Amino acid sequence: MSDFGGRTYNSEKLTQDRSPRPQSQTNPKSRPATVSVIAIDGPVASGKTAVGLHLARELGYRVVDTGMMYRAITWLALNRGLDLDDEDALVALAESAIIELDQPGVGGNPTLKINGIDVTSQLRAPEVDRNVSLVSRVPGVRRAMVRRQRGLAAEGRLIMLGRDIGTVVLPDAPLKVYLDASAPVRAARRHKELAEAGINRPEAEILAELEARDKMDRERHSSPLKPADGAITIDTDALSLEDVIERVHEAAVAAP
Ligand code: DC
Repeated sequence: MSDFGGRTYNSEKLTQDRSPRPQSQTNPKSRPATVSVIAIDGPVASGKTAVGLHLARELGYRVVDTGMMYRAITWLALNRGLDLDDEDALVALAESAIIELDQPGVGGNPTLKINGIDVTSQLRAPEVDRNVSLVSRVPGVRRAMVRRQRGLAAEGRLIMLGRDIGTVVLPDAPLKVYLDASAPVRAARRHKELAEAGINRPEAEILAELEARDKMDRERHSSPLKPADGAITIDTDALSLEDVIERVHEAAVAAP
């Protein structure tokens, strides 16, 4: 486990520098929030990661992107050549894997090591993308991840991103947010993001993949994607990233 700027955490153990931190290093307009945990759920490309990272920077919170954990288990299963229909093997892998999530400084991009290997740059590989819904629908895999996620949340002052954070992982979170947007808008955003990273893929192809993953995430038996009871749902179709961050920030300041 590595340590950046006194802020180190992994899936089993979380330690943190307790000295006071500025509420914001980047946004002088930030107001303080005392809410312990912010749960943000939503479908593929709904903006969870961008909103979570910006907000974490404004509030001086950590971010736990639980999608990275499911992606890492998928990467490891593919790397070991496991049969992804072999649920027992996937559960054994999820229970035994050592996952370390680190975040450099306040609001830096999170990194992930699995069994000591830094796989951050491989988590969004097309093969992982295509198979992660298969792995994450297995109830035993989810149980193993949820246990780790609750352990991480216990320390507080964090934003947890996923599909089932408000419904299953942290149903008592003081602030639950569900980000939504129509599939074409999400596909267009993802297309632009990829183009900016030098990857040009037809938007229609991105839309088709996104709809297929949505379907699996929403229709799976175990922890399907849906807004949690008491969640604030934000339809982001007509909103800018700044607008969404502002709304969640307001809700965080107002939350108990
Ligand atoms: O947020 P993401 O696209 O990185 O998530 C990858 C996959 O992991 C997504 O298809 C569904 C799954 N996932 C999940 O089932 N539960 C979570 N809490 C987070 C992600």
